[in-house]
Amino acid sequence: MDHFEIRDGVMHAEDVSLADLAAKVGTPFYCYSAATIERHYRVFAAAVAGLGNGDPLVAFAVKANPNLSVLATLARLGAGADVVSGGELARALAAGVPADRIVFSGVGKQNHELAAGIEAGILQFNVESEAEILMLGAVAEHYQRAVDISIRINPAVDPKTHGKISTGGADAKFGIPWDRVPAAFALAATQEWLRPVGLAAHIGSQLFDLGPVEDTIRRLGDLARAMTEAGHSIKRIDCGGGLGVPYRADQPPPPSPADYAAMVARVTAGWPWRLVFEPGRMIVGNAGVLVSSVILTKEGARRHFIVVDAAMNDLLRPSLYNAWHEFRALSPRQARRIATIVGPICETGDTFAEDRDVEDVAAGDLVAFMTAGAYGATMASTYNSRALVPEVMVKGAEWAIVSQRNQPAAMLALDARAPWL
Ligand code: LLP
Repeated sequence: MDHFEIRDGVMHAEDVSLADLAAKVGTPFYCYSAATIERHYRVFAAAVAGLGNGDPLVAFAVKANPNLSVLATLARLGAGADVVSGGELARALAAGVPADRIVFSGVGKQNHELAAGIEAGILQFNVESEAEILMLGAVAEHYQRAVDISIRINPAVDPKTHGKISTGGADAKFGIPWDRVPAAFALAATQEWLRPVGLAAHIGSQLFDLGPVEDTIRRLGDLARAMTEAGHSIKRIDCGGGLGVPYRADQPPPPSPADYAAMVARVTAGWPWRLVFEPGRMIVGNAGVLVSSVILTKEGARRHFIVVDAAMNDLLRPSLYNAWHEFRALSPRQARRIATIVGPICETGDTFAEDRDVEDVAAGDLVAFMTAGAYGATMASTYNSRALVPEVMVKGAEWAIVSQRNQPAAMLALDARAPWL
């Protein structure tokens, strides 16, 4: 559920009219609902409370929405963070996430990022290769600091989601093939400053089928037992993220946090280990919309086009994954028509929806792409020298710009004329 609804004929984010915001901030802009973020976090945290050793860590996957105010909203509720770069680590710390609630994932962490994590004193690194074990061993040695690691396994399962966001298959770059885990633990044990204390997995995103997740968590448990027997002291099992969110009202919903937690409870009953979860999309997906204006409509040879002022650089998901985002007029229209919704960017991939039955909007109308809180602003670029759009957070009747629109002049200022020009 979210807090975007029509009141007095116009879509509101909580108690704030998005049309009023558009007048003040200009379009396009992202708008986040703090109440929705808080609710989703609480629902998830309550669902998994008590699992494993009774003290699970819900580490929000920062990549889904790294805005400082989003992270600070979650930090206040006690969320941890799953980070995958030095930049995300800095954001999580700046937002007030305690270092001992931060896990560092990623297939290509560099020495300076490993060092930053050690200096901050994070909970653990989720290590994804034998080479990384040696890199981290050397950096930990340099700092003479004991570092907890979990081995991220590649469970070789098909998560049954879009290929570009599947990470658990045998051919994916992620994790260490599960049958090499004993050797990876043995290698880690040769590193004086590494403490191999856990196992981790993350098989993909926008998951609707809990079966592959269940198989993966079972595999983590089997490996944890085997590693315990081999003399390692296992403390934590990181189940990753991946729970899907509903993008389309006309399709069956994904499993709920309660469904997910019931599955985890069944599989992990009696486990003595602390469980870690890394939800991203399900916390913030429905908590954000991208508000845009219709620039004009035009008739193609066969299609009716709606040209909006947002584009693929602002919300890449439709272009990259053929992802579906509901398209709504901020002031609902009764009339509908089949339209293709596009942005101003000069390539055909700049398409939000093809031949879709939508409200019949006209030039000047305000519109919203729904469920844009996850992997929206964070994947934006400045392609076509377009400004990064501002982000606004609403809480009740209050609102604040939580990321400024970067101006074309500021972007130009980053460039330089080569000395010979
Ligand atoms: N943990 C790890 C190690 C991850 O790589 C991810 C997401 C998550 C947790 C969070 O997964 P979530 O709960 O959000 O599904 N840009 C794509 C999604 C990429 C997901 C990458 N990894 C999209 O827009 O659909």
